Amino acid sequence: MVERNEPMTAAQIRQRFVEFFSERGHTHVASAPLVPRDDPTLLFVNAGMNQFKDVFTGREQRPYQRAVTVQRCVRAGGKHNDLDNVGFTPRHQTLFEMLGNFSFGDYFKADAIDWAWAFLTEELGLPPERLVVTVFDGTGEDAPADDEAAEMWAKHVPKGRIYRCSAKENFWQMGDTGPCGPCSEINIYRGDVAPATADQPGTGPEHEEDAYLELWNLVFMQYEKLDDGTMRPLPRPSIDTGMGLERVATAVAGVHSNYETDLLAPLVDEAKRLAGDAIPEGAKEGPFRVIADHARATAFLITDGVFPDKAGRSYVLRRIMRRAIRHGADVGLHEPFMHAVCRKVVELYGDVYPELRERAAVIDEVVRGEEEAFRRTLDRGLRRLNKAIEQHDADRSSFDPDVAAELYDTYGFPIDLTAVILREHALTLDEAAAEQALRARQGEGGGRGANLGGGGSISGYYS
Ligand code: ALA
Repeated sequence: MVERNEPMTAAQIRQRFVEFFSERGHTHVASAPLVPRDDPTLLFVNAGMNQFKDVFTGREQRPYQRAVTVQRCVRAGGKHNDLDNVGFTPRHQTLFEMLGNFSFGDYFKADAIDWAWAFLTEELGLPPERLVVTVFDGTGEDAPADDEAAEMWAKHVPKGRIYRCSAKENFWQMGDTGPCGPCSEINIYRGDVAPATADQPGTGPEHEEDAYLELWNLVFMQYEKLDDGTMRPLPRPSIDTGMGLERVATAVAGVHSNYETDLLAPLVDEAKRLAGDAIPEGAKEGPFRVIADHARATAFLITDGVFPDKAGRSYVLRRIMRRAIRHGADVGLHEPFMHAVCRKVVELYGDVYPELRERAAVIDEVVRGEEEAFRRTLDRGLRRLNKAIEQHDADRSSFDPDVAAELYDTYGFPIDLTAVILREHALTLDEAAAEQALRARQGEGGGRGANLGGGGSISGYYS
């Protein structure tokens, strides 16, 4: 084990990961841009394996059989959608960096397991007694239980800390179609007393979410799911792994939340600095965290050619930006601020992602433009919404979808932003009904001409 006085920085973890797998014959491949190339099944790149999808299925050949990447990913729509959690849990992000090692028909489970264990315990120095793993129990998908992985883990982890879970936890697939397979997750236990063991029902990462932090997912790619749902075996079993850099940095630094790591804390601090004395008494951390996360996603998405607008990917970016701006208004950020936090993103990440620096002027201009446009109506929209909330019949928990439609049409409030604000007041919104009301409004007289994606429905676009 490497002796260190100071915990490693996130930059060191990122670098060490690439070195570790390069030393084991992996080719370092650059992060793909966030907009998937030629893949209509995917809204944004959501995992390191996306750029290798056709290599796994055998449709494409590469000059290497092992790869290591640090892939920027966005999970704000589609199968893996974390947007609503962001800012209010310690571990969800819209944009995150995924560390991954890949084998295309070369090594399989044994090496993937041994190397993951060595990297976490020897390179990063995480305490082995706190690491708990899960394997597929053979339920929920038409694939056998992964006793083999359980046996391989037993070399490193006492049997009592090897949990067996169903497909929901331990079978990974990129989307409704594509390469997939059983997986094994490594979690770190964060509680005070020793972790429970697998023979105690109701315990483990699946049941005690708050006590565990999922660090690394090792996918044993063995199948391709086809359009009709059938699973075809891949030509050669392969490996796809993914470890969230923010989460592992949290574990290494011994802090509670991603936002306390050096990947995000400087952005939280920048938002606070900009708000300065205007921060209302009792303001919570959540809004600043939303801003930090969303500024990072915004800067990277614009760098990769996504601009805020009314449809599809562009609309997702608009929702992200407007969600941040709205939260900013709650914590005293009454002047445009997002472009300044995005500038900090460029400063913080420009060495690793030089394309951010190249696009800095565009990021600045686009963010300012969007912010100014939304701000012109934000206050009026919030007043309208607050009034509607006050007048809302206290006996009903669901909110009038027509008001949500009006808020979009007149004030540019994305419908799901309205839903989020309503949830803060313990009210629910039937979003499909609101979208329908919006279409009816626009059919009647034009309005902002919203195109909510593919078939007119946001969720339709994602599916
Ligand atoms: N592709 C796997 C995931 O995203 C590693 O979790």
